[in-house]
Amino acid sequence: MPYYRRVGKVPDKRHVVFRQPNGTLYHEELFGTEGFSGVSSLVYHLNPPTMVKEFGKPYSVRPNIAVEDNLQARSYQGFKIRPEADYLSSRTVLFVNDDLHIGLAAPAAGTAGYFFKNADADEMIFVHKGSGTLTCMYGQIDFAYGDYLIIPRGTVYDLHFNGPDNRLLFIESFGPIEVPSRYRNGSGQFLEHAPFCERDIRVPENLITHDESGEFLIKIKKRGLIYPYVYEKHPFDVIGYDGCCFPYAMSIFNFEPITGRIHMPPPIHQHFQGNQFVVCSFVPRMYDYHPMAIPAPYHHSNIDSDELLYYVEGDFMSRNNIQQGQITLHPGGIPHGPHPGAIERSIGKKETNELAVMIDPFRPVKITEAALGIEIPDYFRSWINSKEAVAN
Ligand SMILES: [Fe+2]
Repeated sequence: MPYYRRVGKVPDKRHVVFRQPNGTLYHEELFGTEGFSGVSSLVYHLNPPTMVKEFGKPYSVRPNIAVEDNLQARSYQGFKIRPEADYLSSRTVLFVNDDLHIGLAAPAAGTAGYFFKNADADEMIFVHKGSGTLTCMYGQIDFAYGDYLIIPRGTVYDLHFNGPDNRLLFIESFGPIEVPSRYRNGSGQFLEHAPFCERDIRVPENLITHDESGEFLIKIKKRGLIYPYVYEKHPFDVIGYDGCCFPYAMSIFNFEPITGRIHMPPPIHQHFQGNQFVVCSFVPRMYDYHPMAIPAPYHHSNIDSDELLYYVEGDFMSRNNIQQGQITLHPGGIPHGPHPGAIERSIGKKETNELAVMIDPFRPVKITEAALGIEIPDYFRSWINSKEAVAN
C-alpha cells in the first residue's frame, strides 16, 4: 500500500542507535514482500524477531485437484461449506492456479492458541458474515460484514471473531495485492476518478507492545505446508514503525459505483489488482439512463481470463435462481451472458441492489475436490433452461 504512516516510537533517522529505557537496543526489522524494491516498513521490536525455540512436524494443506482442465461453466453453493471450530482448518480452497488460490471458510472461532503467518501469499479476506478483530504487530483492525482485509504475505496475525456465525471468501495471491495502478498518480495518491480514496482505507490502530516471554506458537504456511514454530518472545513486541507495508481494510460499501448513460464495462467495478488477476466489486447502483438503454450486460467472450463471481446479497440482474454465497465460474474461451429473460427484465429498471465480488484469474483455474462437493449439477445448460440452475 503506497501510503506512508509513522506510529509509536521510531528514531529520527533509520539504522541508528535506538535504545530502550533499560539501555539495550531496540531491534530494527525491515519488513517488505518484494526484496528491497517493494513497499516496506521499518519496525522496532523489543526483542529480535528470530528467537525460535522449537518447531514441530509440518503437515500438508495442499488442495487436492479434481479437474485439471476446465472449459465448462460451473456453479457452486458456497454456503454448503460446513462450519468448523478453527479458523485455519475451516479454510477450504476451491480453485487454484500458479498465481492465486481462491477459497471459502466458515470458522466458528479464530486463531485460538496460535498465530498464523502465510509465507507464500498475500491474503484478501472478504467478510460475508460475522465481525471481529485482526491483530498483528502493527496494531488492530476491527472488521465487519462487507470488509476486505488485505494482509501482506509474511505478516503474523491473530484473528478473533465476535460470534460463531462467520462466512469468508479468501484469496491467497503469490504476488502483491494492490489497488489498481490506473486509480493512482505517479506518487501513489488516488486520482479523482477512482471509486474510493485514502479515507476509505482503515489501517491498524491501537498498537499494543507485548513484552512477554514463554511459548508462542506461530503456524507458518510455506508451499502448501503448515510448519508449527514456537518462539520465545511474543510476536507483537513492537514499540513503533514507519513505512508503507501493513495490513488494511476497505469496505465494499465504500466503493462508489461509476455509472453511465449506456452499459459500462466490467473494469469500472475494479477494486484490486494482483499478478495475473483482478478483483471487482459489484455494488448497489443506479442503472444506465439512456432512454433506450439495456442495463443487463451484453454477452461477452472472456477469452483472456476465467471469471468467478461470488454473490453476496441482493437480486442479481443477469442470473436466475442465485443464492447468497453462490459462485459461478465462467471459463475463458467460451462466451457467456445473461440468463434467459434477464435482458428483457432489465429494460426500464432504474437501479439494482446487487452485491457481488468478481475475481478474474487471467490464467485458467484448476478445480479442487472440495469444490466438486458443493457443485450445482448441469449449470452449463442453464442458458437453455434456467430451471437447471436451481440450487439443489
Ligand atoms: Fe462476464
